[in-house]
Amino acid sequence: MVQDMSDLMDRLPSINDLERRAFRRIPRFAWEYLVSGTGDETAVHRNREALRAVKLRPRLLQGPLAVNTATTLFGTDYSAPIGIAPIGLTGLMWPGTDLALALCAARHRIPVTLSTVATTTPERIGPLTQGMAWFQLYPPRDLAMRNDLIKRARNAGFSTLVVTADVPHPSRRERQRKAKITVPTRIAPRLILQAVRHPRWTFALLRHGLPRLRTVEPYIKGRRSFAGVAGFVGATLGGTLSWEYLSQVRELWDGPVVVKGVLDPDDAGRCVDVGVDGIWLSNHGGRQLEAAESPLDVIAEIVERVDGCAKIIMDSGIRSGTDVARALALGADFVFCGRAFMFGLAGLGDGGAEHALAILSDGLRNVMHQTGCVTPGELRQRVVLT
Ligand code: FNR
Repeated sequence: MVQDMSDLMDRLPSINDLERRAFRRIPRFAWEYLVSGTGDETAVHRNREALRAVKLRPRLLQGPLAVNTATTLFGTDYSAPIGIAPIGLTGLMWPGTDLALALCAARHRIPVTLSTVATTTPERIGPLTQGMAWFQLYPPRDLAMRNDLIKRARNAGFSTLVVTADVPHPSRRERQRKAKITVPTRIAPRLILQAVRHPRWTFALLRHGLPRLRTVEPYIKGRRSFAGVAGFVGATLGGTLSWEYLSQVRELWDGPVVVKGVLDPDDAGRCVDVGVDGIWLSNHGGRQLEAAESPLDVIAEIVERVDGCAKIIMDSGIRSGTDVARALALGADFVFCGRAFMFGLAGLGDGGAEHALAILSDGLRNVMHQTGCVTPGELRQRVVLT
């Protein structure tokens, strides 16, 4: 149970505080899956450096300001330009994550994106979210499966479809290999030993059950053994996406479509030609291509190329409200976070996502006061270009 919010804010005022707490409370394999990048993690560090380098200029003497973080995106009103990015294997890092994130999103009116490889189904999550749910599609090779997933998300009340483009092939993720993280989880004695040393995580697991890829399980023919599910995911959900495929998805979904993982201005322009509504700049939190640019390295060029024809969404490395403000100042319409919310849950349990959101939105409000901005959109005039 999360204690009194102001007491919590005194003790854990930053996402870094939540991260340190999360490290102590979850087993090592779960931690490694959550934080690791790929290669020597250059892209993870580059994301942070790019954000830290953005300077904002204060504007003063404006009297009391009625600062309001509320934002409209694709016709839906949100309380802040902050959303929950899709995370796979959620129940491994904090059992019950998908439910906790859905409730947090509904209570605070922010978008929550359910991954194809999350551990809870869209049918379970959609009804809890009061219109806040987005569905992330890892494009399946099997078109009948793709069409069915899209239909299920629509029927479960998801408003927006996010097509992840930046996993054309599984990344090497050396740290995850060494920690022997597998999808789905194989219960080895080594893992049991790690789990018993983390009783809060283990109790949560007993409450919610072992993580399973419940959304994709119905498509697996034959036995849903460990090897069966792992082989199915590897063989079915990658190396599929093409412009033709994306056009088909565009036709199939009658709401907003967002393409996630775009870093190239030409790709962004082509997404607009296909009729995509949102371009989600991301390097997958540094988990796919070690040498990838940070979204902030390319955002100015992409904003120029897209020229208002699609919304600009951004993630990768956001750890504070100041970071959210920095991304908005450089041209993002909306910012998403992955690990920040997971640090909240792993560090504090079910209510921890709300505390992570409080840190991010309080921080954003604070920067808006410091820079004399009443709406998030005004931050665009406060960036210092060097
Ligand atoms: C991810 N990400 C991700 N993206 C996606 O489209 N589908 C997925 O299933 C996952 N799974 C996933 C698991 C974990 C543990 C992490 C950390 C990330 C990428 C995610 O949506 C987002 O792009 C990054 O998390 C953003 O970087 P930060 O906020 O974690 O720094």
